[in-house]
This record gives sequence, structure tokens and C-alpha cells, in this order.
Amino acid sequence: MKIIITGGAGFIGSHVVRRFVRNYASYQIINLDKLTYAGNLANLKDIENEANYRFIKGDITDALFIDALFTEERPDAVIHLAAESHVDRSISSPLEFVMTNIVGTVNLLNAAKKYWTGEQRHNRFYHVSTDEVYGALEETGVFTEETKYDPHSPYSASKAGSDHFVRAYHDTYGLNTVISNCSNNYGSHHFPEKLIPLAIHNIQNNKPVPVYGKGENVRDWLWVEDHARAIDMIFHQAKAGDTYNIGGHNEWKNIDLIKLLCAIMDRKLNRQKGSSAKLITFVKDRAGHDLRYAIDSSKLQKELGWVPSLQFEEGLEKTVDWYLANEEWLTTVTSGAYQDYYYKQYGKTEK
Ligand code: NAD
Ligand code: DAU
Repeated sequence: MKIIITGGAGFIGSHVVRRFVRNYASYQIINLDKLTYAGNLANLKDIENEANYRFIKGDITDALFIDALFTEERPDAVIHLAAESHVDRSISSPLEFVMTNIVGTVNLLNAAKKYWTGEQRHNRFYHVSTDEVYGALEETGVFTEETKYDPHSPYSASKAGSDHFVRAYHDTYGLNTVISNCSNNYGSHHFPEKLIPLAIHNIQNNKPVPVYGKGENVRDWLWVEDHARAIDMIFHQAKAGDTYNIGGHNEWKNIDLIKLLCAIMDRKLNRQKGSSAKLITFVKDRAGHDLRYAIDSSKLQKELGWVPSLQFEEGLEKTVDWYLANEEWLTTVTSGAYQDYYYKQYGKTEK
């Protein structure tokens, strides 16, 4: 089986590529990635020379390129992760999110529709999506697969749009599509624009840790390798047209999470207890900030037997250990354009 995995040089994509390359020696894995600021081939150093792995640089918004790629490669399946993924960037540049997340997805669907004819119509198109399409929860309740879409940010609106197109291509053209909607991931190779790696990086460098609003927003955190394992199971076992929610049953208020992270960092860096927490700085809230996300993943658990493998405290320790052992990775990704982004997003947050 030849699988194109899009966005394989990003955070989650690199874990999915690694898992498939290592676990399925008979598959050919093509990592298709544009290498935006978020894509980094260093994320895949350990598998780059494997016989069943290839990287192709390319842009999913380029319809002609995608068409030519399908003609040449004739893939048997697509696992689609390429996206603009950061909510804050979507607030400042919504059109980029429309282009990559909606137009890019439709380009891939069009190529699949055109080339997967006859028996190949059974080829799988797996679209990786987010729980943010369901909107925001109050203090109680959870998102199920039946929850009505109600996106609030340009990012979640663009992901919702892409999900609708994927379902439309199943219903209209009979494509064998599958969608999964996952909660917040954490783990190694996470770009430090997102809360956890940004906080680790700032604490390490004694810089303020920006917490939006009062830090009361709640996210449901999942170990990235558990997400990759869920994608593997769903890819191989789901029925055509099906949807699965993936989540860790692991809700944390941002401020509690950051305090836990500060305590871990104090210990790992041999700093005085409480010193990292002094870096916590409350800053202007994110516009349209969703209060709470929580995923009901019981369908995935009951039907496919998936369960998260790691407790959050253990996963967070492992994540911190990875960042402290990979300072070079952090230094590289936080140089250049990152500095401009950081200044635009946070301005002066120094106390
Ligand atoms: P990421 O930003 O770390 O990586 C995105 C990757 O896509 C990068 O390698 C980038 O170079 C590539 N890319 C972007 N635009 C492209 C284009 N036009 N053509 C080809 N490649 C392009 O993202 P992530 O956090 O790994 O998320 C991966 C997917 O999972 C996304 O679809 C996202 O919506 C979804 N998701 C993420 C989370 C999360 O917590 N991070 C949770 C649920 C779902
Ligand atoms: O729920 C899944 C989604 O999780 C994915 O679809 C997105 O791609 C992914 O980026 C993530 O979105 P969030 O907006 O929840 O993640 P982020 O790490 O940006 O923020 C987590 C929480 O922390 C959120 O409530 C905003 C807050 N935050 C974030 C940053 C970057 C801060 O308080 N300070 C910050 O500096």
C-alpha cells in the first residue's frame, strides 16, 4: 500500500509518519509537506533513511501540482494532516486558513475523485480534524460525534469547512472518507507557538509565561502518540463515511496546567520551588476565546478498543524531558521568523 501523508513534517504528522514507517514495513509512506514555519524535517531525522519512506516538498493549495502527484504516484490512500493549525494566527490571517485548510483539502479530494475510479474508489481518504469544530462548552457537557458544528475562530471555521467538504465527497461521489476530531495534543516536536511548548521554552529562558485572560479556559489534553495510535486504528478499521472523536478524558484549566508545568520545571532545572510560577503573566485574552473543550471518545473505545496510554503528569514530565534534551531543536525553530511572530503576538510581556 502506498500512502500519502500530508503535513508529515509538522507536530502530529511527524508522529503519524514515524508510526506508519516503523510499524508497516510493507507500506510505502510518502510525506507531502510544504515546510511552512511549522514543518521541520528534523522532526523525522530518525526515520529519514528508511526504505519505505520518502519526502516530497509540495503545496496542497496548488491544484496542478496535486493532480500531477496523483498521476505519478497513484497512491492507495491519503492521510491528510496538512493545515494551518494555530488559532492565534488565524485571527490575524484568516485567508491563509481558508486557502490551506479548505482549498487545499478540496484539491486533494478532487484528485482522489479523479484518479480513484472503479475498484480504486475503495481507496481511503482519511481527514484529520479537530474538536474545535464543535464550538465551546460551558462548565458541563462533552462533545460527541453527534454534536452540531458551531465553530468560532477562523481556524475552527476553516476546519469545519474542510470536514463538510470531506463528507460531501463521500455522500456525492462515493469516496471512502473517514474523519476524526481530536482534542489538544501535547508531546515532543510541538511548535513553541502553542501553550505547552511556549511555556517550557519561556520558563527555561526566564521569560514571562503569557496566560490569556484569567487562565480559566479548559482544554482536554492528549499524548500525541496516543493520537497517532488512534489514527492508525481508525485508518485500518473504520467504515467508509464514519467519524470518530479522539480525546484524553483529561481536562485542565490553563492556569492549573501552567502551575503544574512550573513545578515540574523547578524540579528539572534544580530551581527553587515556586520560582518558575513567578514568571506567570496574565495577558490580554484571545478574541472569541472558547471557554471549554471536552471530548467523549467512548465510540472509539467501544468499537475499536482504543484507550489513552499515559497519565497526564507522566506525559508532561516526558515532554519536558524531551525539550530539555533537544535544546538545539528549540533554538532552531525559535530563531528568525519566530521572533517577529512572538513580538507581534505578545508585544512586551515583560513584568
Ligand atoms: P502543525 O502546524 O504542527 O503542522 C502542520 C504541517 O502542515 C506542517 O508541517 C506544515 O508545513 C504543513 N503544511 C501547512 N500548509 C501546507 C500546505 N499548503 N501544503 C502542504 N503542507 C502544508 O499542525 P499539527 O498541530 O501537527 O496538526 C496537524 C493536523 O491535526 C491539523 O490538520 C490540525 O488541524 C489537526 N489537529 C491538531 C491538534 C493539535 O492539538 N495540534 C488537535 C486536533 C487536530
Ligand atoms: O482542540 C484542538 C486544537 O488544540 C487544535 O485543533 C489546534 O490546532 C491546536 O493549536 C489547539 O488549539 P488551542 O487554541 O486550544 O491551543 P493553544 O496551545 O494555542 O492554546 C491552549 C490554551 O492556552 C487556549 O485556551 C489558549 C491558551 N493560551 C495559549 C497561548 C499560545 C494562553 O493562555 N497563552 C498562550 O500564550
